[in-house]
Amino acid sequence: MSKIAELNEVAELKLNGQVYHLPVISGSEGEKAIDISKLRDQTGYITLDTGYKNTGATKSAITFLDGENGILHYRGYAIEDLAAKSTFIEVAYLLIYGELPNVSQLESFQRELTYHTLVHEDIKKFLDGYPSTAHPMGIVSSMFSSMPSFYPESLNPHRSSEKVNLTILRCIAKMPTLIAWAYKKSVGHPYVYPDNSRDYISNFLNMMFSTPAEEYTIDPIVVEALNVLLILHADHEQNCSTSTVRIVGSSQANLYSSIAAGISALWGPLHGGANQEVIEMLELIKLDGGDTEKWIAKAKDKNDPFRLMGFGHRVYKNFDPRARIIKAACDSVLNKLGIQDPVLEIAKRLEETALSDSYFVERKLYPNVDFYSGIIYRALGIPTEMFTVMFALGRLPGWISQWKEMREQGEPIGRPRQIYVGNNIRPYPELNKR
Ligand code: ACO
Repeated sequence: MSKIAELNEVAELKLNGQVYHLPVISGSEGEKAIDISKLRDQTGYITLDTGYKNTGATKSAITFLDGENGILHYRGYAIEDLAAKSTFIEVAYLLIYGELPNVSQLESFQRELTYHTLVHEDIKKFLDGYPSTAHPMGIVSSMFSSMPSFYPESLNPHRSSEKVNLTILRCIAKMPTLIAWAYKKSVGHPYVYPDNSRDYISNFLNMMFSTPAEEYTIDPIVVEALNVLLILHADHEQNCSTSTVRIVGSSQANLYSSIAAGISALWGPLHGGANQEVIEMLELIKLDGGDTEKWIAKAKDKNDPFRLMGFGHRVYKNFDPRARIIKAACDSVLNKLGIQDPVLEIAKRLEETALSDSYFVERKLYPNVDFYSGIIYRALGIPTEMFTVMFALGRLPGWISQWKEMREQGEPIGRPRQIYVGNNIRPYPELNKR
């Protein structure tokens, strides 16, 4: 853990005439926090912060995010540099182990990831039980929940770091196979087995799109685009799904189950599920004639449940640096692949209209990572229902690194408090007595 400074500043809380002094700490980028961990013991009071808008749940050395200035760093490296210069596997290594890998570390990491790509044959029996309409997020989350049945040693919360590392490698190696097989199930095609001569992304694409009738031709433009998208999704500090992974893991639940919970949290339309919702929204607007002003008005209308999906963010209040990179990549990928997608024009018009509208300006609502990512996924041939599961593939190293950090820091079980607002004690009704 790097650089936590206890500052000379002290926060004073005056409560019923008594003054309490609360320590103030600072992180390595100068962000400050009032430490209230002893507040209840000292005062009998708790703090109330629904949605944890102002609550720091941990001290973390993985990802730095400055929402006011649109800054995102993984382990001290700017997201712009990582997206331009790294591979997803290098970024996964960086997040999990703290440093970019040297040549031999990278080779050995890649070898391990290749070695563990196969999933147990019995997994196919689970897949066979799903209807073809099953959403891949539900399938992949369930597959992760099932993993400890095949690797029961992962259930022991006091395993050596070597054994924990084996579980980490298995998670990253098997995720593409599980996702591709969930897709094959949905289209009723035979499963394609991993091919260990291929790199991580090419292997995934081959399992997704090759059939016994025709081998899929790997296009380096598609591999590169996917590489960038996965890097941009790889971590985002204490977001909803990552906090879920950490809180589940804090009970010493195994890594597979903690990730299964993270996948479920990511599925929601206010979080990772937004990428699927964005394309569905853009298609709807196109079908409706493409009148973006009308849909912006709907998004502003408090009596209308419609929200501009892919817009707004809990922490970014200026711009989302990932959205900037994706927007530029979107134009470039579509050009290179020779694809003209009419929804890209609609998306750009929506963005332009929203960014000049006082409703969006005053509320600091900007396009987030999900606004343009779906357009790229679609151009790469990824079906709409698979968008969120692609996000999960990218976020996996982030969840793992956060789970590992939480475990190595020996964090206590996560357990928020509440203010009870229900009935006071009352007599049990005579009529309901046994
Ligand atoms: N469209 C219209 N109005 C919006 C939108 C939107 N997309 N987002 C926020 N607002 C409005 C709210 O109605 C609210 O207005 P009010 O102050 O008049 O009541 C105000 O902006 C603040 O919004 P909150 O929902 O309180 O902000 P919060 O930080 O809780 O939510 C969230 C952030 C969930 C991302 C929200 O902006 C949203 O629902 N966006 C659309 C879904 C989306 O794109 N999610 C993906 C986020 S990125 C990710 O998770 C990977």
